[in-house]
Amino acid sequence: MSEKSKDSVTEDLARLFGVTAEELTRLFVLSEEQLMELNEVEFRARMRERCHHTLEIPTYESAYFGTPLPADQTETVEKMLRVWDRRGLSHELVEYRFATTILGYAKKRIAGEPVDLSVHEPKWLTPEEQEVFERVIYQRRTVRQWDLKRYVDDELIDKVLKAGLWGPHGCNLQSIRYMVIREDVEPGLFEGSDVPGGPVHVVVMQDRRCYDANKLMPPFNLLLDCGAATQNIVLAAHAYGLGGCWLTFSDVMRERLIKHYSIPEHYDVVTYVDMGWPDQSPCPIWRCGVEEAVVYRSLPNKKK
Ligand SMILES: Cc1cc2nc3c(=O)[nH]c(=O)nc-3n(C[C@H](O)[C@H](O)[C@H](O)COP(=O)(O)O)c2cc1C
Repeated sequence: MSEKSKDSVTEDLARLFGVTAEELTRLFVLSEEQLMELNEVEFRARMRERCHHTLEIPTYESAYFGTPLPADQTETVEKMLRVWDRRGLSHELVEYRFATTILGYAKKRIAGEPVDLSVHEPKWLTPEEQEVFERVIYQRRTVRQWDLKRYVDDELIDKVLKAGLWGPHGCNLQSIRYMVIREDVEPGLFEGSDVPGGPVHVVVMQDRRCYDANKLMPPFNLLLDCGAATQNIVLAAHAYGLGGCWLTFSDVMRERLIKHYSIPEHYDVVTYVDMGWPDQSPCPIWRCGVEEAVVYRSLPNKKK
């Protein structure tokens, strides 16, 4: 694989997004002064996106294939790190930690040194652990009745919310935001739901300002980001012994919440999960088989 010039990478990306190279540059290549003017949420999201596209992906590709990494590959992230300090942002924030780690790898590749990613290799599941994983997937049920005598601690809720944040998401934009509302403290806000309100309502929102960091994001990806987070939430709730019900807002309910909490316009109030200690073991809704679901499959490559 040959070393790709920055221009040809820009042209490839522009083609992918269906815009001109000039438009792509206008949207993504900001001066330090322009970066200083952004609100902090968008700036941090840009740091995540830029680090992902301009540094992480090319550095790993270079490390994997042993191809050279151009010396100017680090320019974008180094500029953003300068702005990071000018803005007085903390070095403890995840974007800074990630950017400086990847920058370290990139500098090694630029110097022609190998990058050892084996320290990040996951601890692969044993066959017994795989069975536990399958139990979580296949025994999770949507639960709609709760043991209200048992309190759900905030620490446990936070473990579930953390799992949501670790879902995959487009361009590393990390837009997911939550509201955690206890029915016994603030009753009635979820009236109109087709199931009795869970003791804990987790509202899953997205900060649309994160998407200002990539205005070319395919629209589907926004909802998919949220779906991936919410899927992790219901799985984690089950893994920690809680019951969860993924729920749909009616317009009336959504508007009620927006009004009650004065939720700012830049938050999309997308979906919610009711959670609590389960008081119900519903029958599995059996799924159709894989053979029915797969509508096309390549023939096996007999040459291999
Ligand atoms: C996007 C989405 C919206 C849902 N909305 C509701 C809802 O409004 N009310 C409800 O009772 N269940 C809702 N559910 C739960 C589904 O009914 C449930 O996942 C489905 O029947 C399969 O059952 P299981 O989760 O127990 O496997 C929703 C699930 C998803 C993924």
